[in-house]
Amino acid sequence: MKLSLTEIADRKRLGEKLVMVTAYDHPGARLADAAGVDLILVGDSAADNVLGYSSTVPVTVDELLVLVRAVTRGAERALVIGDMPFGSYQVSDETAVANAVRFVKEAAADAVKVEGAGPILSRVQALLGAGIPVMGHLGLTPQSATMLGGFKAQGRTAAKARQLLADARALEAAGCFAVVLEAVPAAVARRITESLTIPTIGIGAGPGCDGQVLVWHDLLGLSDRKPARFVKRYANVGGEIKRALEQYATEVRAGAFPADEHTYSIPTDELELFAKTTEEPEHAEQRDA
Ligand code: KIV
Repeated sequence: MKLSLTEIADRKRLGEKLVMVTAYDHPGARLADAAGVDLILVGDSAADNVLGYSSTVPVTVDELLVLVRAVTRGAERALVIGDMPFGSYQVSDETAVANAVRFVKEAAADAVKVEGAGPILSRVQALLGAGIPVMGHLGLTPQSATMLGGFKAQGRTAAKARQLLADARALEAAGCFAVVLEAVPAAVARRITESLTIPTIGIGAGPGCDGQVLVWHDLLGLSDRKPARFVKRYANVGGEIKRALEQYATEVRAGAFPADEHTYSIPTDELELFAKTTEEPEHAEQRDA
């Protein structure tokens, strides 16, 4: 059964950590679900991890909807959050609602995620007004990385940390059910976590958050890019895939694959009949001469 928003809130109250991971396809969702992951984010990080864009900015709602649909079909227990891409909610409350409705209606997302605070607060309220649960995202918000001075840790001065705390409180007051804190000093994230009643989900925000999220490709070692400081690789799946593909190529080239066990047979009498009934005329003539 699906994890409910109440159960997610209860986790914080009980001091039980929440586990979130990104996923972008059906097999990934099934594996995450089977592993007991609580929340699956179909992140706009699909842009660079899956679709080959150089940042998250170009990915469209239509592109993400295909991935969200695949993930929701595979996640029976984990709550699936569709990440609203750049441009899909910044313009107005109306466009934000229209796009978020697509995530829920066309792709069966359980919730959506938006980045930032300030003008985004009215979007959160509008989305909740439409009955759509919202996860916030503060700190390093990749969709506005240029404005933030690049991909670097946020909230590293007292003033900036205070602003982050104020933004997190504002997102809670606006009705977010949880907030991602990305690339925020651990002590600042801990302070924010302690001052909120909704859970914080950290990525590069230290162990004091109520939960953690990692990007699928980073966690599993599927990316050939240098991972960020906050990434822990739990496997080298990319290396294993490359090794398997190289072995496959070697065996095909050497004629070692397919072997007998990968091949279908035909009864001898049927094979003889097949040979006879499909014999080329000149071969038949040669044989009969
Ligand atoms: O898109 C994404 O993967 C994210 C996570 C880093 C939280 O927003």
